[in-house]
Amino acid sequence: MIGRFANELGASMQGPAILIGEQLGLYKALSASGPVTSEELAKKTGLAERYIREWLAGQAAGGYVNYNAASGKYMMTPEQSFTLANEDSPVYIPGAFYLISSIYKDRSKIADAFRSGKGIGWHEHHNDLFIGTHKFFRPGYLANLVSSWLPSLDGVLKKLKDGATVADVGCGYGSSTVIMAKAFPKSQFFGYDYHLESIEWAKDVAVTEGVSSNTTFEVALAKNYPRKDFDLVTFFDCLHDMGDPVGAAKHVHQSLKPDGTWMIVEPYANERVDENINPIGRVFYNASSMICVPASLSQEVGLALGAQASDSKLREIASAGGFKQFKRATQTPFNRIFEARP
Ligand SMILES: C[S@@+](CC[C@H](N)C(=O)[O-])C[C@H]1O[C@@H](n2cnc3c(N)ncnc32)[C@H](O)[C@@H]1O
Repeated sequence: MIGRFANELGASMQGPAILIGEQLGLYKALSASGPVTSEELAKKTGLAERYIREWLAGQAAGGYVNYNAASGKYMMTPEQSFTLANEDSPVYIPGAFYLISSIYKDRSKIADAFRSGKGIGWHEHHNDLFIGTHKFFRPGYLANLVSSWLPSLDGVLKKLKDGATVADVGCGYGSSTVIMAKAFPKSQFFGYDYHLESIEWAKDVAVTEGVSSNTTFEVALAKNYPRKDFDLVTFFDCLHDMGDPVGAAKHVHQSLKPDGTWMIVEPYANERVDENINPIGRVFYNASSMICVPASLSQEVGLALGAQASDSKLREIASAGGFKQFKRATQTPFNRIFEARP
């Protein structure tokens, strides 16, 4: 237990240091420069050398950069650069630490909720949660959504290529919406989320990413977003955060064309708790108790599915919403992708 504790303590201490590295562009500068001393990296980044020297030693001790004692230089291997300096890589690590940072900042509020049983709305969290969710999830969407998740759904890819109408519900900062809008310029995408700040951010991203002509972002609840006759409705990592997922499922059902598809992306989980006692379950159950369960409890009904809701529970929700077909279409080590058809 003591050996394990030393590792856990080091990893926890590494978290804020990773955020400092991200925020100040240190990983990107080190990755681009090749082997450098702390003086050279400080000069390149315009930062204070004494701080950089200590930060680099901590990174080397954590295995996040390499140190050559003979030359006194630090460098990053391709694997370290891939995970720490490349925001588009499928396994970009720093985003997750913004999300974790929000939990530390909201800890008192969360402890109060444990006492009272009341919820905490997504919008009531520190801003680090929103930016962290965006930075943590976007790399997985970039890597998988167009190349593997959408093709796993029956007939959806062709419709998107030809020109479909799509609702992306609980879209947050709109990373999934923008990725799809870029890949399928003939289709129209409507991003909905109840969180005003996220919708404002998504609108700005649509402009900078050049997809404002085929995206519309609006503040709306999953239970009452406007428009009908969608070919595809997507829910990325948000169904379990909702208070009334059955109400949402019913609304999706009536908003789809008769041959439409509801795509639900949820965190990877097995059927039973004892099957989720593993490193992935550890991440998701902990995030769930401090973010997802309180989010759901803050809303009408407050079903609180939790981030490890089983396939059979999700099937029940879809069926209660009126969907006749439901299957797990594909998966990654972190995600399950479901297809529900009317
Ligand atoms: C974990 S975030 C996922 C955001 C985004 N889909 C992504 O993958 O980056 C959950 C999102 O669901 C939204 N949300 C929660 N309950 C909602 C509801 N009832 N109606 C609409 N949006 C909701 C939150 O505001 C938040 O943006």
